[in-house]
Amino acid sequence: MTKQSGEAICSGATPRQIEEDLKPLLDFQKQGLSMEELRTLIEDRLVPHLVKYDHPGFHSLYNFVPEETAAMGARIALTYNQGVTNWQVSPGGVMVEELCCRALCRMFGLSPGADATFMYSGTYANQQAVFMALHRGAERRGFDLAQDGLPGIPEPGRFVVLASEEAHFSLRQAVRMLGLGEKALVSVPADGKRRLDIQSLEKTISALRGSKDIFCIVVTAGTASTGSIDPIRPIVELAKDVGAWVHVDGAYGFAYRMLAEYESVFAGVELADSVTWDPHKQFGVPIPSSILFARRGEDFQRMALFSGYFNREGETVPNPGLKSAPSTRPFSALPLVTTLRCQGMEKAMERLRTPLTAVRAFVDALQAEEDIELMLEPDLGIACLRLTPRGIGKDLLDPLQQYLYERTMAEGKRSISMTSIGGKTVLRFLVVSPTVSSETLMETIAYLRTLVAGFNG
Ligand SMILES: Cc1ncc(COP(=O)(O)O)c(C=O)c1O
Repeated sequence: MTKQSGEAICSGATPRQIEEDLKPLLDFQKQGLSMEELRTLIEDRLVPHLVKYDHPGFHSLYNFVPEETAAMGARIALTYNQGVTNWQVSPGGVMVEELCCRALCRMFGLSPGADATFMYSGTYANQQAVFMALHRGAERRGFDLAQDGLPGIPEPGRFVVLASEEAHFSLRQAVRMLGLGEKALVSVPADGKRRLDIQSLEKTISALRGSKDIFCIVVTAGTASTGSIDPIRPIVELAKDVGAWVHVDGAYGFAYRMLAEYESVFAGVELADSVTWDPHKQFGVPIPSSILFARRGEDFQRMALFSGYFNREGETVPNPGLKSAPSTRPFSALPLVTTLRCQGMEKAMERLRTPLTAVRAFVDALQAEEDIELMLEPDLGIACLRLTPRGIGKDLLDPLQQYLYERTMAEGKRSISMTSIGGKTVLRFLVVSPTVSSETLMETIAYLRTLVAGFNG
């Protein structure tokens, strides 16, 4: 049931208070509790500390409760507890995932040879994309990364990935995990809209020519911090010139490619070698639900590992577990299928558009407000701003935003987030929930104004 504005989003309790509350739940005894006792314990002790993502005052993060249409699929997946590693584990589940991946490739306008695989999270999807890129980079130089690893490659320190300074930190995780180290991730400056600056990319490529091997360039289509979309086609063209794999991190933004009004912004994405997308961010499906697309489906073979008892070589049935690392894989495709099928695409697109419209109207309404500094025009559903009340000096504006954020989180009535833009501390309003409107966002501004009085620098 959708939450009302007056209810708390979360308790705002300290870690110490929550620890105290939860002790009885974790008190493992010889004898168990009845389901009823346990339910009461959880309602009293745990639920107040859970965040209510469907509250109209929640506009801080990429979380939402499952739509009933998705929960239905999730319940079936749970009832049968299906894994979808390979045909033997779940022929029906495997085929749903395979057909869903093919349908999504078509819906997103990817090339006929494209394929996809469900992943645990966008982080792992990005990591696998960088692995596949490095694998191909090594192959082009006559080496087999899978067999020989980095020691098999002369001068592995030449390999670098280029990404905007605003790219998600999971890319740093990816180069760490691949053994390349963070030095292999070359950061390219972003422009005033926090999109990768194409001239800086050209300069970076020129500066690295001869000394480094750029095996991958990452485009962020919807940055985690501000929702900015890098210029896709120009990056793809530059990457083609240097022979680099293009990975589009669309964990947040790729969904919006389905909206007609975003088609031109996403032009060129079909030429990328791989794309990450997180349906769990704005499709109201249970977490985790992430997908990695590859323009050439055969690139997933770079992940394949066979064994004598499972995922045997030469099998002609589909085995999704050959396309990504985990052996046991959840049946995440089913909730996505049931929600799209039950809502119908028209309604699903409206659902996708609603938060963007709310943020647009919110930003338009704020233009006239003297005590609001808008940091940038939103590309998607994130508005970034600062409260700049009269009488508060410029040097106190960063601490003021921090104070407003902390007070809001402690009171638990509303939920906003914080980021940093150009060295300034900024309040961030992120909307993925259809329960949030421009009016509820304005209510949060009114609420923040009431908190200013308590700020004493
Ligand atoms: C652009 C971007 N990439 C990657 C990720 C990581 O995705 P996940 O949280 O599913 O691991 C996020 C998460 O917010 C993101 O916004």
